[in-house]
Amino acid sequence: MEGNTMLATPPNSTIDVPKKDKSYPLPRDAAETKRLNDQHSLFKIYCGQNLIHPSIPKEKIQNIADIGTGTGIWLKDAAELLTTIPTESGNGRSYSGFDISPLQFPKVHQKGMQFSVHDLLEPFPVEYHGKYDLVHLRFLLAALKEDDVKIAVKNIVALLRPNGYVQWDDLRYGFAYNRKAPDELRASDQVAEDFSAKFGVIRNLPGLITENFKKEGLQGVIKYEHPPPDTEEKIAAAKALRLEMAAVMPRVFLEVGLAKTEEEAKEMTGRNVMTLQKHFDQGLYPILPLERVIGQKV
Ligand SMILES: C[S@@+](CC[C@H](N)C(=O)[O-])C[C@H]1O[C@@H](n2cnc3c(N)ncnc32)[C@H](O)[C@@H]1O
Repeated sequence: MEGNTMLATPPNSTIDVPKKDKSYPLPRDAAETKRLNDQHSLFKIYCGQNLIHPSIPKEKIQNIADIGTGTGIWLKDAAELLTTIPTESGNGRSYSGFDISPLQFPKVHQKGMQFSVHDLLEPFPVEYHGKYDLVHLRFLLAALKEDDVKIAVKNIVALLRPNGYVQWDDLRYGFAYNRKAPDELRASDQVAEDFSAKFGVIRNLPGLITENFKKEGLQGVIKYEHPPPDTEEKIAAAKALRLEMAAVMPRVFLEVGLAKTEEEAKEMTGRNVMTLQKHFDQGLYPILPLERVIGQKV
């Protein structure tokens, strides 16, 4: 099923948007689509270009699902990477993207790829059960509350074929830098802290994923912490990623009551970005709490 044919309409996408898509705090406009795609490229640099962890045997991976796929950028890149590695069985690969909202699904995509609307917190239709050799998830911290993780993991594990893998890349909450952050930066980071406390942002999502993978009976569960950036390229990617993350701050300033209007929130975000940039120009750089959890259904 691999190939370069581009399809203009997702053939199997459904258009009913689950009613539960209510509390997701990020926008789904053109700017957010660009932000997610840029974030993907920076993430790859930060993680040493490992889209799929080296311990996962790529020749055994035939059916791939990306949950909370957003713009489908990971799926597109994974498909490109895997075209160079034939499957052991000689069969072509299939790629399925699922998201609670279709708003950022790609307008065109290659043959063998489908996008469907589905809420990860609801069981997937049985036609998808036991189908996938690799299920991937990334950056769902803003979408999940602590109690959701158990349900999400249960639903994901149902998708796996025997011997199938799951890889979940996500953030631990927090801000760290290569040296002590200056006071003015710590003050704005504190605003984000207050927001996260008020809205119950999960403090250690990768830890919770690890725990639930084990509870669901996955084997070989390992949590990898990416090492601090050690090259100019990775440091530049870390700074750019941190600035991208600041793009979500308007909502935070509004929610914690520091800004009264959207305009004011955007101005505050602009100042926050300038402060970060100033210190980055003086040699400060962030160490991002990005972690990757892997497990296998046996
Ligand atoms: C920050 S974006 C990350 C997108 C993509 N995984 C990436 O790394 O580029 C989070 C995505 O998760 C989706 N999402 C949020 N809650 C979801 C849910 N309950 N079920 C499925 N998708 C969800 C959002 O619509 C959004 O597209």
